[in-house]
Amino acid sequence: IRKILKDINLHAGSLESYASLFNIILKIKPNEVYHLAAQSYVGYSFEDEFSTLNININGTHYLLSAVKEFADSKIKFYFAGSSEMFGKVKSVPQNEDTVFNPRSSYGISKVTGFHLTKNYREAYKLHASNGILFNHESPRRGFEFVTRKISHAVARIKNGSKEKLKLGNMKAKRDWGHAKDFVEAMWLMLQRDNPGDYVVGTGEEHSVDEFAKKAFGHVGLNYKDHIVIDQKLIRPAEVDTLLADSSKAKKILNWEPKVSFDDLVIDMVENDLKNINLV
Ligand code: GDD
Repeated sequence: IRKILKDINLHAGSLESYASLFNIILKIKPNEVYHLAAQSYVGYSFEDEFSTLNININGTHYLLSAVKEFADSKIKFYFAGSSEMFGKVKSVPQNEDTVFNPRSSYGISKVTGFHLTKNYREAYKLHASNGILFNHESPRRGFEFVTRKISHAVARIKNGSKEKLKLGNMKAKRDWGHAKDFVEAMWLMLQRDNPGDYVVGTGEEHSVDEFAKKAFGHVGLNYKDHIVIDQKLIRPAEVDTLLADSSKAKKILNWEPKVSFDDLVIDMVENDLKNINLV
């Protein structure tokens, strides 16, 4: 965000402190609150369930409660739910009626956040919406997530690194979209008169293997020459497959994803190639 710092104001706050969140709302009196903060790395949630559950559940509760104190200001609230709430999926594809079956403390924390948001909407009449977002990626993605881990390794290897890229379950399938499309869906939810819950995804599924093949292939490399499987990266409880049915978002929000899977992979790889010397 270095480039846009001159256009925005940052205020320090912590999901662990109700007082800090309350004071920010008091000071800013926002029209819209987008609650995206969390311990959001599923892999790490198996190593530290306690902080994942405490921070994600209490943080969401604190923020909702702080917003409720200013109910007269008609603040619109967005909660970043996740396709991880579907976990070991009960049906394919997943929509707003699909049963939740989370497989990690991260997924459990998001199910709780979803219900807290819904309850504040129903009990206290807040304009509070849940986005159930499937994986959304971009060149700004953190290095711990598989797409950026791959795109950055492609750039390093293309630039002469002799390393092997260690990955876990390459058969896992995800509905990967571009973050800039998904942010538009979040915004659209808060422009409506009535709050609601929406599944947001592309409706296309690809494996980690396909992502790696395409990313290495884009720079003329065969991914099989550069990847090794590391058993330590296999999750104790995996989510094998996720596929969105976003009919509701398409119909009510008039939302459509614009960036294809191929263009997403190319955007990430090209960006890492361009900035490889800066990291
Ligand atoms: N991170 C990572 N690293 N994942 C790997 C690796 C690896 O080396 N190798 C294979 N994978 C597999 C994981 O096991 C998982 O099945 C898949 O790649 C995607 O992993 P992540 O990129 O870590 O994302 P995620 O799907 O677990 O979670 C992301 O998407 C959710 C929405 O569906 C995160 O952004 C969550 O915060 C978000 O809610």
